[in-house]
Amino acid sequence: MLIRHPHNIPPSNITDPAVYASRRKFIHTMLLAGSAGALGVAHGQQAAGTPGASLGKLQSSPFSLTDDKPTPFKSVSTYGNFYEFGPDKESPARNAYRLRTRPWSVTVDGEVKTAKTFAIEDILNWAPLEERIYRMRCVEGWSAVIPWVGFPFSELLKHVEPTGNAKFVEFWTLADPEQMPYVRIPLLDWPYMEAIRLDEARHPLTILAVGMYGETMPKQNGAPLRLVVPWKYGFKGAKSIVRIRFVEKQPATTWTKAGPEEYGFYSNVNPDVPHRRWSQSHERRLGEFFKRKTLPFNGYAEQVAGLYAGMDLQKNF
Ligand code: MTE
Repeated sequence: MLIRHPHNIPPSNITDPAVYASRRKFIHTMLLAGSAGALGVAHGQQAAGTPGASLGKLQSSPFSLTDDKPTPFKSVSTYGNFYEFGPDKESPARNAYRLRTRPWSVTVDGEVKTAKTFAIEDILNWAPLEERIYRMRCVEGWSAVIPWVGFPFSELLKHVEPTGNAKFVEFWTLADPEQMPYVRIPLLDWPYMEAIRLDEARHPLTILAVGMYGETMPKQNGAPLRLVVPWKYGFKGAKSIVRIRFVEKQPATTWTKAGPEEYGFYSNVNPDVPHRRWSQSHERRLGEFFKRKTLPFNGYAEQVAGLYAGMDLQKNF
């Protein structure tokens, strides 16, 4: 089904008006046929993309390893993926105003000495917030340079102690049909869950982000807490996290379930491993016309390649 694997659609097709119109019509019909007819998602609700509250003075970070100019806030906050709010790039900004980000808590469980639930207010006090300017690359071929605000994932490990069995970390995200209209439709296997290896999570480039462009996170970009792993394709960056679970075995994630041949568990940006249906050798920055070459590990090879020493990255894509 066309909408079952939205990533299967090359970017050129995504903007094809005929494809776009038929997909919207299909979704709209499904909504009207079901109990969600009154959701108003196709009726041009106010954008949720207005800038958030200032996050005050931020620590600058030695991990902003790029001189590239940040992509305009408007592009990053109005073009993205958040399937709980719709299957196309514009619907998250249109529909995410429905998300309630307070009260919010995150449960940390699984292979930890003691499972705990933290209020988002406490999480915000774990560490001084840093601005991290990262290059980001989507598996669909678009990219952006984003000044995230957050703190290293490793700060979490000061509050919970993983057991010796913990090898992977799962990031589970909210799936509330009351707030997220498309959770009523099996676009993906809800709740959205992505996972990385524990050593990847501990890498100093991996952050939990609470904002961007100096302000609290726009809802459509994953408020109030999301994962950012700059050397992996964007779908690893789980948005609106409610649970972090440490596990022993490599889990099946939302995207490996949706298409194991197309979305590998590792999802490291690798220009030499094409997606089943398009090349990954180049990318287009949001707002730019000409494509640029995609770099291995999205340009972070020097920092992260060692994590994969001895692994065949053609097989472990
Ligand atoms: N997180 C949730 N909960 N739901 C989603 O649909 N989409 C992923 C990721 N995180 C997604 C998600 C994908 S496919 C991408 S490319 C990035 O979010 C997009 O993040 P951005 O919109 O901030 O660029």
